[in-house]
Amino acid sequence: MTAGNNSNTILVLHGPNLNMLGVREPGVYGTQTLDDINQRINSVAGELGIQIESFQSNYEGALIDKLQARAGFVRGVIINPGAFTHYSIALRDALAAISVPAVEVHLSNVHAREEFRRESVTAPVVTGQIAGFGAESYILALRYLAGLSVSE
Ligand code: DQA
Repeated sequence: MTAGNNSNTILVLHGPNLNMLGVREPGVYGTQTLDDINQRINSVAGELGIQIESFQSNYEGALIDKLQARAGFVRGVIINPGAFTHYSIALRDALAAISVPAVEVHLSNVHAREEFRRESVTAPVVTGQIAGFGAESYILALRYLAGLSVSE
């Protein structure tokens, strides 16, 4: 499989409420803050020779704007859409429109929680979904995208 372009950069998008990690429902999401998670992603990315651009927003349109602006310049996208996963057709359409691989990640195992979290409107338009491994969900996605060969 090939990545869409020869950039060494991966775009990491964090959706709503992920800025509250560390204080938000620690029994579900753990005690790591978003900064901790970004640092871990950056440190593994460094080992893999990958640059990370990360962005968090509580706004659907801001996430879509970022995807539209940057997807053409990165080798892949890691996205935790937060609650938008379950209902944002606009975000789904934005993901369907990009030509680089994208991986949807979740800290928690969304399939083991409330019924409404089992549905993802975004999963069908990305390469795959990784859920339930805490911050390691992002790292698994990073290793996958880093391992794709880049097209000429
Ligand atoms: C989440 C799961 C979503 O259902 C929830 O709305 C979130 C976080 C996760 O990472 O486990 O905000 O995406």
